[in-house]
Amino acid sequence: MGKTLQYSSITKKIIMSLAGLFLTSFLVVHLIINLLILFDDSRELFNQAAHFMATNPLIQIFQWVLFAGFIIHIIFGVVLQIQNWLARPVRYEKKGSSEQSYFSKFMIHTGAIVLIFLVIHFVNFFVKAKFGHIESISYASGTYEDLGWLIVELFKDGAYVVFYVVAILLLGFHLDHGFQSAFQSLGLQHSRYTPFIKLAGTLFSALITLGFIAIPLVIYFS
Ligand code: HEM
Repeated sequence: MGKTLQYSSITKKIIMSLAGLFLTSFLVVHLIINLLILFDDSRELFNQAAHFMATNPLIQIFQWVLFAGFIIHIIFGVVLQIQNWLARPVRYEKKGSSEQSYFSKFMIHTGAIVLIFLVIHFVNFFVKAKFGHIESISYASGTYEDLGWLIVELFKDGAYVVFYVVAILLLGFHLDHGFQSAFQSLGLQHSRYTPFIKLAGTLFSALITLGFIAIPLVIYFS
């Protein structure tokens, strides 16, 4: 932590942006694999993909990099936020005096909720997949752990469906602002391109959000 505090604010923002963009790339892969569960009732495609992810040695190394990415993004985010609060102890009185978008002011809050979501999500799936016993299922292509069954079972519970949908919506707002903010921190900003970057970020965040939300909703209502 001591060393983290010594970096300049912009260095911290650059490191955070790179970690954030890296985490986003994980989300794309995670979403594509999870969506497979909606396309066949036998869960073969999903279970096959999950088996590949759980056994491929390169992916195993990538998991540690992913974990480090989360830790870096969280630590730098918290430190930057605390420094912001310390630098401006009195809140702006006038509402609407800043040009920032509404959700940009709540990055630390939406981030904290996504973190709580991740802890619960880990208990729901990751811990069970790694340390628990999951029934096997056989297909023509082979025998795999039926991880897909865990997902289908979880989303039979309306409370989990609501929790996942709300958390993913907040993740969407976090991504929307994070995307444009990352480009700004990396200096890839130009008056001509900024609207395009903002639009691309919003479209991307909307797609990720809708994709993830579809999974609990489709499972619950089908
Ligand atoms: C409907 C939505 C989602 C479903 C069905 C889902 C499903 C899963 C499953 C089954 C696993 C365990 C994989 C394994 O250990 O082999 C997992 C792991 C994980 N999920 Fe999700 N997930 C969803 C949304 C999310 C979101 C929104 C995030 C990020 C904010 C996320 C982050 C992670 C992480 C970091 C892991 C552990 C890393 C890994 O196993 O590769 N998930 N998820």
